[in-house]
Amino acid sequence: MRALTVAPGQRGSLRVSDVPDPVPAPNELLVQGLAIGVCGTDKEIVGGEYGWAPPGQDRLVLGHESLGRVLTSPPNSKFAPGDLVVGVVRRPDPVPCGACARGEFDMCRNGRYTERGIKELDGYGSELWRVETDYAVALDPQLESVGTLMEPTTVVAKAWEQVQRVGERAWFDASRVLVTGAGPIGLLAALLGVQRGLDVHVLDRVTDGPKPDLVKALGATYHHDPVDSVAARIEPDVVIEATGAGQVVFDALANTAAYGIVCLTGVSAAGRRVGVDAGAINRELVLENDVVVGSVNANLRHYQQAAEALATADVAWLTELVSRRVPLTRFADAFATRPDDVKVVITLTDHA
Ligand code: BGC
Repeated sequence: MRALTVAPGQRGSLRVSDVPDPVPAPNELLVQGLAIGVCGTDKEIVGGEYGWAPPGQDRLVLGHESLGRVLTSPPNSKFAPGDLVVGVVRRPDPVPCGACARGEFDMCRNGRYTERGIKELDGYGSELWRVETDYAVALDPQLESVGTLMEPTTVVAKAWEQVQRVGERAWFDASRVLVTGAGPIGLLAALLGVQRGLDVHVLDRVTDGPKPDLVKALGATYHHDPVDSVAARIEPDVVIEATGAGQVVFDALANTAAYGIVCLTGVSAAGRRVGVDAGAINRELVLENDVVVGSVNANLRHYQQAAEALATADVAWLTELVSRRVPLTRFADAFATRPDDVKVVITLTDHA
């Protein structure tokens, strides 16, 4: 079968490879791969800056934003052939650490977790894949065209859960949220904020293209002014940061309401320095009981939360997030960023 593979650490090594068909273990589903979403992490891996092949292999099958259709399932499993499924990205570390032992593998303490398509486990970018039934999540059939958005939605479901839990350390009644960055993570974070009944503001640099309209269609407010002026004006109770840009992060930190929570979800490259007034930031965090919390990945609970969020969302709005669908044979096009791209998806069912 065909699979999209990369040699981690080697820029320019992405290609479609012929690899053996997977043979499912007794506890596994055999799945026909329908599509994978492409995100910043995939671009880092393709750029040779991130990613690890499985032990003993040179190449890694890419793809962690999955969507597939069950071909075979173990008897008495909760899955049946024909079901739409998404595979969970992370697996607990083998020790396991206390967090992984409790199903909180998204909070792994020893860094020995593995991730499909990213860290030491082949991903879902292949015509067939297998997945343990415990790490597969069924998707509502009406979400077939947008199912690859499930994984990024799990990431924002976790971020929102973090915000809620941090907020509940004392009296908490957030009403205004600022989302920085109107990429897929920012827009999905805005969707979940609207679903929570919050007054949602989204900030991005662009003034045209699909992003302003996508924000407005949610009933949220779009901004393209500098983050410090927008945040100073609206005084957000919560900031979901989805750019990973250092200046945006620090400008957001400095301008929350009292008891503000800034949740960082953007993965940035090291080595980009910004000048900050450390005294002023420390003073603001202390005197306002502010919190900054980083959030990555998602556990099974967040997959359930994401499935519920997507099931109540407007499918037409979700469809607009998918800017382009690129067949596997033209994979390079999917990695060539275009200005109006929100989410690019690679389809796995074309036959070359
Ligand atoms: C994925 C996460 C993963 C992280 C770090 C992100 O793109 O969505 O599931 O934990 O990369 O590898």
